Amino acid sequence: MKSTSFDLVVFGATSFVGQILCRYLLKQFGVGDELRWAAAGRSQEKLEQLRQSLGRRAAKLPLLVADAADEASLRELCARTRVIVSTVGPYALYGEPLIKVCASTGTDYCDLTGEVHWIRRMIKRYEDTARKSGARIVHCCGFDSIPSDLGVFFLQREAMRRFGRPCERVTMRVRAMRGGVSGGTAATMMVFIKEAAGNPALRKEIANPYSLCPDDYRPAARQPSISGPRFDPDFGAWIAPFVMSAVNTRIVQRSNALLEQAYGRDFTYGEAVLAGKGIKGRLAAAGIAAGLGGFMLAAAIPPSRWALEKFVLPGVGEGPSPETQRQGFFDMRFLGRTAGGQELRVKVTGDRDPGYGSSAKMLGQAAACLALDVTKSGRPGGFWTPAALFGERLIERLQAHSGLSFEVL
Ligand SMILES: NC(=O)c1ccc[n+]([C@@H]2O[C@H](COP(=O)([O-])OP(=O)(O)OC[C@H]3O[C@@H](n4cnc5c(N)ncnc54)[C@H](OP(=O)(O)O)[C@@H]3O)[C@@H](O)[C@H]2O)c1
Repeated sequence: MKSTSFDLVVFGATSFVGQILCRYLLKQFGVGDELRWAAAGRSQEKLEQLRQSLGRRAAKLPLLVADAADEASLRELCARTRVIVSTVGPYALYGEPLIKVCASTGTDYCDLTGEVHWIRRMIKRYEDTARKSGARIVHCCGFDSIPSDLGVFFLQREAMRRFGRPCERVTMRVRAMRGGVSGGTAATMMVFIKEAAGNPALRKEIANPYSLCPDDYRPAARQPSISGPRFDPDFGAWIAPFVMSAVNTRIVQRSNALLEQAYGRDFTYGEAVLAGKGIKGRLAAAGIAAGLGGFMLAAAIPPSRWALEKFVLPGVGEGPSPETQRQGFFDMRFLGRTAGGQELRVKVTGDRDPGYGSSAKMLGQAAACLALDVTKSGRPGGFWTPAALFGERLIERLQAHSGLSFEVL
């Protein structure tokens, strides 16, 4: 283990979600005790304001200055810590130099990105380096994709216990959720939609459900895709496309690949939103699908994109209020079926808004797991997923400290 001043550095501590994360880490771990952590960002002044806003307990919180575009400053950051958790986004714009430096210096890393095209690019460019240096890189440690990735992991572990075999077919349905969007998330969506709108090769690449799996991975099954309203007899309700499914399904498939097809060679996984029963459910499903399609179209066309950015979406540093975060929640239902027809139903819930209150707690525990639980032996360097690297240990942490529940129904 490399000898450093810190176990963990939060890079992007002054971002909307970074501030929530710092408050959470302070509450969970204090400063300089079980977890030696520091806050980092590009502005000393903003970092000092953050420390002040965190109160007296944070008086001794170390602050470090680094710029996402300055490799030398990122190298200094990496020399001082074993793990970096980054909330500097959009990651596709600012994230690559830090991945490069972490991969070459053997520094473990986790983040909140859900930008599949960027993750794929990072794997292609830096996986060999990370393998050699021992750096474990774990993307998608927020709402996308921890509940989906660990929800499937939990269901499959239970299937093995009960049936002695995994479920070949798993579906996840979002039963309910409440929350909001921050400026950083809105900017990330717009960067991606803009890039994809003018790049057919990129659209083709991200349409591949196995786009994050190794190139030589040869899956046997055709994956489900829910692009419009549809009746789901397994849940007795109408369903509509789920905005995060294009990220979550790719991460779940990568987990299966990294876990040596522990979910099966013919494993299929799909996600959607439950819209309700009867005619009301049908109309609601059609409304959700049309709303999502309309948003994507508006974001892809320059004049309407300008109007969305100027009048509708939150600006940099803005996001849901503490009250909205407290009142937020999510409730996700999983149904698994083995090749022999045995069924298992599982529920995953969170007690804060998915994107911020809950994501910050998931990211904090993923980072703590990386810093305190998963040693390098048996967990070599490379690009991991939350389920493949943390598995059971993170489920325990999330249930004990992050307001998540994993239950068999
Ligand atoms: N997957 C999920 O579930 C999930 C949930 C929430 C957020 N996210 C993602 O997390 C990211 C952050 O979101 P947010 O709303 O918190 O963003 P935000 O408030 O807009 O913050 C962006 C941060 O990036 C920092 N930054 C920009 N350029 C930099 C540079 N050159 N060097 C160092 N720092 C730099 C900014 O620093 P200053 O403070 O100095 O301006 C700011 O702290 C976004 O990519 C978002 O999509 C994902």
